[in-house]
Amino acid sequence: MDYRELYDIALNASKNAYVPYSGFHVGAAVLTEDLKIYCGANMENASYPVSLCAERTAMSKALYDGHRSFKAVAVAATKDGQEHSAAPCGMCRQFIFEFGDDIEIIFGENRDSLKIFRIKDLLPEGFRL
Ligand code: THU
Repeated sequence: MDYRELYDIALNASKNAYVPYSGFHVGAAVLTEDLKIYCGANMENASYPVSLCAERTAMSKALYDGHRSFKAVAVAATKDGQEHSAAPCGMCRQFIFEFGDDIEIIFGENRDSLKIFRIKDLLPEGFRL
């Protein structure tokens, strides 16, 4: 799949964010090994640390449906209608790393300047039991 398309899906998912505190809309699109796509967005809370990132929301939907093998996760963000690059936070990197070294992580300023990393490169020596 063209990763620009996966980014577009993440960008569209960012519209469903619940972000009354930051106004920073993040969307994530997870591509499973069998080519299904799951979307999520960030969900904030008045008690800030309770908030959920877009990546973990999207991955959890896929996991709940039984998926355990993933090809890629694209992340997109907007604030005040402007696109911003959104690299996954450390907690989301660890969450994704649970499911493989080589999952590709896609993000960037816009669909024409995407960066692609393997999760093991974004989280060297990630934790596994
Ligand atoms: N956020 C994400 O959804 N994913 C990330 O990887 C980084 C940050 C959200 C959390 C919060 O709702 C907003 O972005 C601003 O920090």
